Amino acid sequence: MSYLFKDTEKAAHRLRLLADVFAFSSRPFLQTVVDTAPEMVIDLGCGPGHTTRLLAEVTQCSQAIGLDSSEHFLSLARMIAPAHLSFVHHDVTQTPFPTGPCDLIFCRLLLTHLQEPLSVLERWGTQLRPQGLLLVEEVEWIRTEHPLLRHYLEIQAALLRQQANELYIGPRLQQHQVNDGLERRLSHVYHVPVSTAQAATMFSMNLPSWKHHPFIQQQYGGSIDQIEQDLHALANDAIGEGEIVWGMRQLAYERK
Ligand SMILES: C[S@@+](CC[C@H](N)C(=O)[O-])C[C@H]1O[C@@H](n2cnc3c(N)ncnc32)[C@H](O)[C@@H]1O
Repeated sequence: MSYLFKDTEKAAHRLRLLADVFAFSSRPFLQTVVDTAPEMVIDLGCGPGHTTRLLAEVTQCSQAIGLDSSEHFLSLARMIAPAHLSFVHHDVTQTPFPTGPCDLIFCRLLLTHLQEPLSVLERWGTQLRPQGLLLVEEVEWIRTEHPLLRHYLEIQAALLRQQANELYIGPRLQQHQVNDGLERRLSHVYHVPVSTAQAATMFSMNLPSWKHHPFIQQQYGGSIDQIEQDLHALANDAIGEGEIVWGMRQLAYERK
């Protein structure tokens, strides 16, 4: 099943903005769970490397490796990588990873796009050294009363659902009992306030990646261009704060 949000220039710009927004939750998450500098850390679905750089900065690791299936994103990541960061092409649903075992695995906003995410999560745990940490950050909920933002989210959720993915995968991760090789150390929801303009910008940058998808054309073909225009206008004009909040499920597992 394909990654719906694509790896175009616009998608890379969206991930730049997303990195600024979600550093708000990822930074304190990493600071809370990592107390000694790990030797080797891996960032799964690293995209253009924003999460990998954050991970390296906060953990003070000796080596950080980003894995992603997009050559375009990897080439962008390599352009601004210090010597102890490297980026490797790999489908992260496949184990073993090409890196060998590591001390810490981080993954943000990818399980929501994968088939059979719970069994993938279990496989990731096998790539850790003993006492290694697996850290996952995914969407639990997005709360908004703004009609346009709500409507966009309903469409995005429906699109993911029709290929058996879940936009709000956090509750499923929370309910999942991991196998004997892993122990859950932490699970909570971190609230991320996002301005209306930031949300509308991220949404309007994402929409071109999937608006021509057959499901969208069939279900929303008559209105999707107008929704895109309205999101652009909102991105430019909105001054609202507190109209949309993300709940990010943060989970930490330790390998026994
Ligand atoms: C929503 S982006 C998240 C990027 C980054 N983790 C962040 O939070 O900014 C998902 C990333 O996962 C990558 N991806 C999707 N499916 C993948 C797979 N099977 N293996 C490796 N990378 C994948 C995409 O190319 C994209 O860079």
